[in-house]
Amino acid sequence: MVNLDKYSSIFVANWKLNGNSSFLKDYYEKLKLNSNNCTIICPPSIYLKSLKTNNENLFCGAQDISSFKEGAYTGELSASMLKDNNVDFCLVGHSERRQHFSETNSSVNSKIANLIEQNIIPVICVGETLEQKDNNLTEEILSTQIKNGIPNSANYKNAIIAYEPVWAIGTGLTPSLDEINKVHDLIKNFDQKFINFKVLYGGSVKSENSKEITELSRVDGCLIGGASLKVEEFNKIIS
Ligand code: 13P
Repeated sequence: MVNLDKYSSIFVANWKLNGNSSFLKDYYEKLKLNSNNCTIICPPSIYLKSLKTNNENLFCGAQDISSFKEGAYTGELSASMLKDNNVDFCLVGHSERRQHFSETNSSVNSKIANLIEQNIIPVICVGETLEQKDNNLTEEILSTQIKNGIPNSANYKNAIIAYEPVWAIGTGLTPSLDEINKVHDLIKNFDQKFINFKVLYGGSVKSENSKEITELSRVDGCLIGGASLKVEEFNKIIS
């Protein structure tokens, strides 16, 4: 399992449903890694094997995984199949999966447990919608997502949490720096066991705001969508 404590910050590129072989080749040739940081690229699963990650600063991650271990589940990929293909990380519970694919805290919980069993580090996404934020429900929503979605086997060495406010994803909007730090602090203090967890921020991260966000005391890195698709922009973020 990757030793997360070796790195000063963690940056995860979530390509979502974008990219192809030539995009990947070009991206890889132009990618400029920072030796202090852990950089994780999450392409669509079919491209995971094409990413050359024999470098201690670059890893690949899947964007989702089955909640089942094996069997008659057409279209699914299991945690053991990811392990078999040297995948070290996997996003779980992304809000787009919760919204469009009926992901629940219970299925998130099973997925994380399966990944941990295979020594794959889940990047566990949590976050509130704008309506929930406006109704002062952020703390309650995050608390439920964390308590019901994270199994007991998760700890700060084998799992990462990513705070992604749903209303900040792809909108150009972000919480204030103070808000981000406060929410991360809240997450780390939900329970004694979360205090040392790495907590990443995601939602409209770009080169103009990544430095100030990453420098916040309670932020351990960023999860980046749109801006990770432009390699020059991503290079600036991870530099
Ligand atoms: P954007 O960076 O495009 O807002 O997406 C964030 C995200 O969903 C990363 O998982």
